Amino acid sequence: MTSKNHSRSIHQRYESLLSKVTERKSQVQTFIDMLHNQTTWLTSPASTRFHLNCEGGLLQHSVGVAETLLRIKDTLAPDISDETCIIVGLFHDVGKVGMPGKPYYIPEARDGVTTGKYSTNQELVSMGLALRSLYLVSQYMPLSDEEAQAIAYHDGMYVPEGRSVSHREEALLLLLHWADMWTAKVLE
Ligand SMILES: [Fe+2]
Ligand SMILES: [Fe+2]
Repeated sequence: MTSKNHSRSIHQRYESLLSKVTERKSQVQTFIDMLHNQTTWLTSPASTRFHLNCEGGLLQHSVGVAETLLRIKDTLAPDISDETCIIVGLFHDVGKVGMPGKPYYIPEARDGVTTGKYSTNQELVSMGLALRSLYLVSQYMPLSDEEAQAIAYHDGMYVPEGRSVSHREEALLLLLHWADMWTAKVLE
């Protein structure tokens, strides 16, 4: 992470990424309006026990992955568009919000006071997180085949479904996977 990013708030960095989306601007705007109004996108943690298990952790992680992905692709694959990187980077983990009106992470409370810990909502229809990300995003905007593969399989070999595309990963999937790993394990 550059010092420039450290001095900017997470919301400034989020707005800056969104402002670079041009071709699918209206679809992305409709999607984030829904996320802001009907889900915990702006407040959700990124996990219950691992990285950024705090309020706003998911947004912080998502912005970080999009920024890291842009930097990696500028070096290794400049032909991939910024817009593609922003959409798959920002929304690869959006399934962690759960479904509209049904949050996946629930803040734990004791005697009416939140403990800062989270549990997962057992009432949601069960679905892999990456698959739910793809399900949500694809209801709001068209995706290229490469973008769909990248979102669906971004966890790579860390999850069994990663095997179904092993050795057939597109460049975008490889870059998103490593941007995700680097952001979660080195920067956060
Ligand atoms: Fe993920
Ligand atoms: Fe992630």
